[in-house]
Amino acid sequence: MLSFADVTPEIVAALQGIVGDDYVIRSDPELLHYGRDETEDLQYRPDVAVRPATTDEVSRIMRLADEHGLAVTPRGAGTGLSGGALPVFGGIVLSVDRMNRILEIDENNLMTRVQPGVITGVLQDAVAEKGLYYPPDPASNGSCMIGGNIAENSGGPHCVKYGLTKDYVLSLEAVMPNGDVFRTGGKLRKDVAGYNLTQLLVGSEGTLAIVTEATLRLIPMPNFRRTLLAPFDSLDTAAKAIVAVYQSRITPAALEIVEQAALAAAVEHLGRDVPYADAEAQILLELDGTDEEALDRDLMKVGEVLLEIGALDVMLADTPAKERELWSVRKCLGEAVKKQAAYVECDTAVPPDKVPDLLRGVREVAAKYGIRQISYGHAGDGNIHVNVLTDNPDREAREKTLRPAIEAIFQVAVDLGGTITGEHGVGCSQSRYLSLCRDPVAMAAMVAIKNAFDPKGLLNPGKVLPSEVPPSLPVATV
Ligand code: LAC
Ligand code: ZN
Repeated sequence: MLSFADVTPEIVAALQGIVGDDYVIRSDPELLHYGRDETEDLQYRPDVAVRPATTDEVSRIMRLADEHGLAVTPRGAGTGLSGGALPVFGGIVLSVDRMNRILEIDENNLMTRVQPGVITGVLQDAVAEKGLYYPPDPASNGSCMIGGNIAENSGGPHCVKYGLTKDYVLSLEAVMPNGDVFRTGGKLRKDVAGYNLTQLLVGSEGTLAIVTEATLRLIPMPNFRRTLLAPFDSLDTAAKAIVAVYQSRITPAALEIVEQAALAAAVEHLGRDVPYADAEAQILLELDGTDEEALDRDLMKVGEVLLEIGALDVMLADTPAKERELWSVRKCLGEAVKKQAAYVECDTAVPPDKVPDLLRGVREVAAKYGIRQISYGHAGDGNIHVNVLTDNPDREAREKTLRPAIEAIFQVAVDLGGTITGEHGVGCSQSRYLSLCRDPVAMAAMVAIKNAFDPKGLLNPGKVLPSEVPPSLPVATV
């Protein structure tokens, strides 16, 4: 197993010298907060957490870590779902939360420059005031940070029309594990000079460099939006609606699927009824655009498509309040499922037309291994979150018992041309499954890239590439 130098009192003093006493966290309960994210029930305790305010401070922290051989785990808001921000080897957690300024909203070029600690929803609101749109919207967009979104290449419901985080990152400023600072480009829509380091860092889960500034692309805000909910009496039919929508040549702004067990969890979590809670499955579909008449024509057409394929009804959210209500049900599912039982999540993704096969395969695996599972997700992107539930409170034991079933679920996805994670990242929770969807040559190339950036392996150790990591602590209440 990897090992790192201890965080000694001298190291703590050096960190205090860099960022100031107030921004070095050394004791519980504050420190425990930096040992958790939103991934299942994992918990690791860092030795120290540090909250730099500038790129220069980040650089000096990394120089110190490089000099002494210390593990450093970068952290945004800690809303990740694959353990990417967990300090699995202890050491230093480097939180970018104080680097939270929107540096510029450039209305001439439709770009923004931001620091990594800007909350995604705050950026979305700020650009919306200027008639602009930053579409990537993970369910946690009210609290997650752009730095974390870039690290994980986060998605969300609106990616089906607008693309993922990667499609909006134009260039980055970042700090190498040895403390060197570099920029990957500028405020450019086109720039093909050399290897695309921008896109290499996007989705690298904080294992290659620490992003300290990002230049992001914006688009004009579509003025009009329509949201539909369609209940189905069969999950298979609902899944088949995805292809029917694609074949209609209408591009939905969101196309989500939710199965009955997830609806039941939402009812329990919200403590109120939700529309068509008894349906075997639901499709939530959003359209948007700048021409209201054209939008309503598409709305009629897509409604007919859903009914033709077998929807029991098509309900239009005809007020902004009803729209918010439908989305609040969808967006609470992560929390709602978490409340049901301990679980392990498989963030599968397949070509969208294979979603019916994926859902059928998942149900077959569940029956074969006698496990309970709840599925929902971004159907239009072929990205289904399969949550495997268990009553076993012991994480290690549970992981071992469930592993064959989890592996079988991932194998179903991979056999359909899919992947083990569509948008949550590999982190430490899925790294043992990475080789199911990446061949040995690609795995070796990834190891070589890691070594080129971080030869000492100090930055976010135990993530992405398979490696042995210490067991999680029992979760302490923070
Ligand atoms: C969602 C999160 C779990 O789609 O990705 O709700
Ligand atoms: Zn999701």
